[in-house]
Amino acid sequence: MSRPLRAEIDLEALRANLRRVRVVAPRSRVMAVIKANAYGHGLVPVARTLADADGLAVACLDEALALRDAGIDPPILLLEGCLDQAELIEAARQGVSTVVHCEAQLSMLEQTRLTHPITVWLKINTGMNRLGIAPDLARVFHARLAALSAVRTTVLMTHLSSADDRDATVTGRQTGCFDETIAGLGGPQSIANSAAILAHPDTHRDWIRPGIMLYGSSPFPDSVGGDEGLTAVMTLRSALIAIRDCRAGEAVGYGGAWRCPEDMRIGVVAIGYGDGYPRHARPGTPVLINGHRVQLVGRVSMDMITVDLRSLPDAAVGDGAVLWGRGLPIEEVAEGADTISYELFCRLTRRVPMRYRNA
Ligand SMILES: Cc1ncc(COP(=O)(O)O)c(C=O)c1O
Repeated sequence: MSRPLRAEIDLEALRANLRRVRVVAPRSRVMAVIKANAYGHGLVPVARTLADADGLAVACLDEALALRDAGIDPPILLLEGCLDQAELIEAARQGVSTVVHCEAQLSMLEQTRLTHPITVWLKINTGMNRLGIAPDLARVFHARLAALSAVRTTVLMTHLSSADDRDATVTGRQTGCFDETIAGLGGPQSIANSAAILAHPDTHRDWIRPGIMLYGSSPFPDSVGGDEGLTAVMTLRSALIAIRDCRAGEAVGYGGAWRCPEDMRIGVVAIGYGDGYPRHARPGTPVLINGHRVQLVGRVSMDMITVDLRSLPDAAVGDGAVLWGRGLPIEEVAEGADTISYELFCRLTRRVPMRYRNA
């Protein structure tokens, strides 16, 4: 028998979440964000399933080329832009659009003879202070792009720092800055990530850029995917591989950091930080055994975790475990590990086999 751990990816849930995006923002085109191996869900299967999206956004050219190599031909956008001339030429050749977020990238575009036209997303920094040109440079950049015959279209974009705050103060400030900056400049606009799509409709504009909501997780700290009308795409499953009887006061796991409050059964589940389960998950973090909630106890080790089976007297070796997904929102597990669902998805390791359903 092989190790019971696997990540089940429900591609119908992915399609349902894309439909949800369209219901929430019916007038916008959807640039589906599938960087970082589609947030850990598998770049190519996710891209194939999102055939109804209007474009696919990745971080870098390697990710775009992996898509083109797999025969995926919808528009692709490089969110970090091109790093050198060779990348720019290849991006244009492959019909891949690029972000321009700094002077170096614009100069490179001006100095490179492109044989294929390219669409540029001009990124304006409205307060995130990560990538993007200063607002007062936007007009000059826009004019320089317009002067380049190889540049087919310039999309005006910005990225929000605090869209997951339902209070619109910061988002409103950034959106106001964007609107002021681009007043009178032609071209499509793009502002919204998942949180803005759900909470700040005035940011929808021509293109939206949903990421996390496509995978069924909430972008907000105060809700889970189901509350937002989303369905978990990934369910991380394993099983009990051992059960032991422990006495009151006995310590469980590395460092003896957790002690049994009474005589009790401890279950051992085949998953650990070597698979991407967060090592810092605290005792009390929920796990489903046979569909029932139990709590993590003791430290997470490389290949195993231990759980409190006091509420499940009939639990037996071989019983199924869900670490997150259907029946157990990933947001709750993320909270137990002081992180966010994005990170849990992305750090699953290659050791976890992916099983695709409803292709
Ligand atoms: C520029 C940009 N747009 C959109 C997204 C999607 O964000 P989210 O996953 O919160 O929807 C990201 C993700 O980090 C991003 O960097």
